[in-house]
Order: sequence, then structure tokens, then C-alpha cells
Amino acid sequence: MQLNHRVAVITGGASGIARATCLELGREEVKAIGVVDVSDDVFAACEEGNRTLGRDVLVPFKGDVSSTAFRQSVYAQMVQRFGPVHICVPAAGIVRDALAVKLDETGKAVLYDEHLFRKVIEINLLAPIYWAMEMIGTVAKDRAKRNLGRWEPEEKVQGTIIFIGSISSVGNRGQVSYAATKAGLEGAQATLAKEAIYHGVRCAIIHPGFTDTPMVRAMDPKLVREKILPLTQLRRLLRPEEVADAILFMIRNSAASGALWVDAGWHPPA
Ligand SMILES: NC(=O)c1ccc[n+]([C@@H]2O[C@H](COP(=O)([O-])OP(=O)(O)OC[C@H]3O[C@@H](n4cnc5c(N)ncnc54)[C@H](O)[C@@H]3O)[C@@H](O)[C@H]2O)c1
Repeated sequence: MQLNHRVAVITGGASGIARATCLELGREEVKAIGVVDVSDDVFAACEEGNRTLGRDVLVPFKGDVSSTAFRQSVYAQMVQRFGPVHICVPAAGIVRDALAVKLDETGKAVLYDEHLFRKVIEINLLAPIYWAMEMIGTVAKDRAKRNLGRWEPEEKVQGTIIFIGSISSVGNRGQVSYAATKAGLEGAQATLAKEAIYHGVRCAIIHPGFTDTPMVRAMDPKLVREKILPLTQLRRLLRPEEVADAILFMIRNSAASGALWVDAGWHPPA
């Protein structure tokens, strides 16, 4: 897809993979990138990013991706200021790891906290799907206004969604909620890919391996050193910029459909 004058929305952009993606995309001739995050850091990240990029391309929005009103307001403001949104990378995500079932000292079976599970689903699964669908809506409305029906290849690709899955989507001990949401995104991606191409919008998913971001830095360093790094072919964590580079490749290259694994060769053990 040609990136010139395109408008993007990236969630989770105050940190890690999404922040690096904002910078990579900002280096292209895109018109504007709506950078969404629940953290106050989103303002400093955009200010610093704009300084690095030498132009005001990153537009910060602070709020929770699971709020419908917030999502609609971000899109309304982006469309009003810059026009329809063509690129969506709904990357905001959380981990809340615990065993699915464990026995307490009295022998009682303790199941993974149900409220926590719902929260992980809200943020990691429902939110990315709705942020993506909202973007498809902006393209669909714009094309309808121009009396365009079913998309034809001569029009060139009109939009791209890249979901952020994970190597954990194939199952990883201690990650029943996280893995379920990342696997769920596969189904959403496959379905939206089939539906959204009516409007000329592609949809794909990337599955990063362990990447050096605050999410992974919050893990036990011994676990990372002993259980993860030796089992990756690169024997190191991925850099957010490497994952961002792969995301940019997937946005640019319209032949890239389905899933890309950017995992440094690590796969969850039995
Ligand atoms: N780091 C890894 O090893 C790794 C591997 C595979 C997939 N991923 C995925 O990549 C994405 C980015 O992860 P990261 O490692 O860069 O994490 P990160 O913790 O560095 O960044 C996540 C960002 O999302 C924001 N966020 C969290 N909940 C939010 C909410 N409710 N509303 C708005 N913003 C919210 C956080 O404030 C944070 O800035 C996530 O979807 C994660 O699951 C990460």
C-alpha cells in the first residue's frame, strides 16, 4: 500500500512495540498518526517523536482503548482533522499471568481469576477488533460518499490493519488469558480480511517473540535469562524496532496476508 498522505491510528503508542511503530511509520510520508495510550506518557512520547521526526505527525490521545466513547471520539477527531483513517495497528495490550488451575494449601482448586480474564479479553481482544472495525468504517463511509461500491483493484489498496498477536497464541504455560486473546485475534483477522476487502481494506496479524519492552522487563529476569534466551536462535530479546520494521513491511506489502511470525525462533515448550 502506498503510504503517502495516509492517516493512521496506533494504540499503545506510548511504549514498546507500538511506540517504535509510530516512529517507523512517521518516517514515511504519512499525513498523521493518532497515538493512543492510557498512560500520560503518550504526550511526552509524541513530543519527543515529533522532535526526532522533524515534523508534527504524531497526535496524542490519552484514554482507555476499551472505552467505546473514547474510541469513537478519537476517530471522529482524526477524520475531521485529517480525513479517513487508512492504517490501524491496535497494539495496546496487557499480561496478567497465572496458572489456569492450582491447589492452595488446603487442597482447594483455585481457578484463574475470572474478572481478570474478562479484563484481558476487553483490552487484548475486544478493543483491537473494535479499533480495527472503526477504521474500516471510516474507509467504507468515505467510499460510499464517493459513490463507490465493491472495491476494484484499480483503486489500489485503501487500508491496512495489522493486529499484534504473540508466540503465546499457540499456548504458553501461565498465560491462559493472554494466549486465548492472542489466538482469538487470529479468528478476527481472518474474518475481517474476508469482509473488509469489499472496501479495499486488508487485515493481517504479526506474532512477535519476546521483545525488549517494559512488558517483558516486568518479568523475572532469571526466567528470561534461563528459560527464554537460550531457546531463541538469536539468543537475545528482539528490539522493538525490529518488530516495528516487520509491521511496516506488512503495511507496505499488500501481498502479505495472514500471519507473520517474528519470533527469533522461540516457541513455547511442552
Ligand atoms: N514485548 C513482547 O515480548 C511482546 C511479544 C508479543 C506480543 N506483544 C504484544 O505487543 C503489544 C505491545 O506490547 P509491548 O511489549 O510494546 O508492551 P508495553 O507494555 O511496552 O506497551 C503497551 C502499551 O499499551 C498501553 N495500554 C495498556 N492497556 C491500555 C488500555 N487499556 N488503553 C490504552 N492503552 C493501554 C500501555 O500503557 C503501554 O504504553 C501488546 O499487544 C503485546 O501483547 C509483545
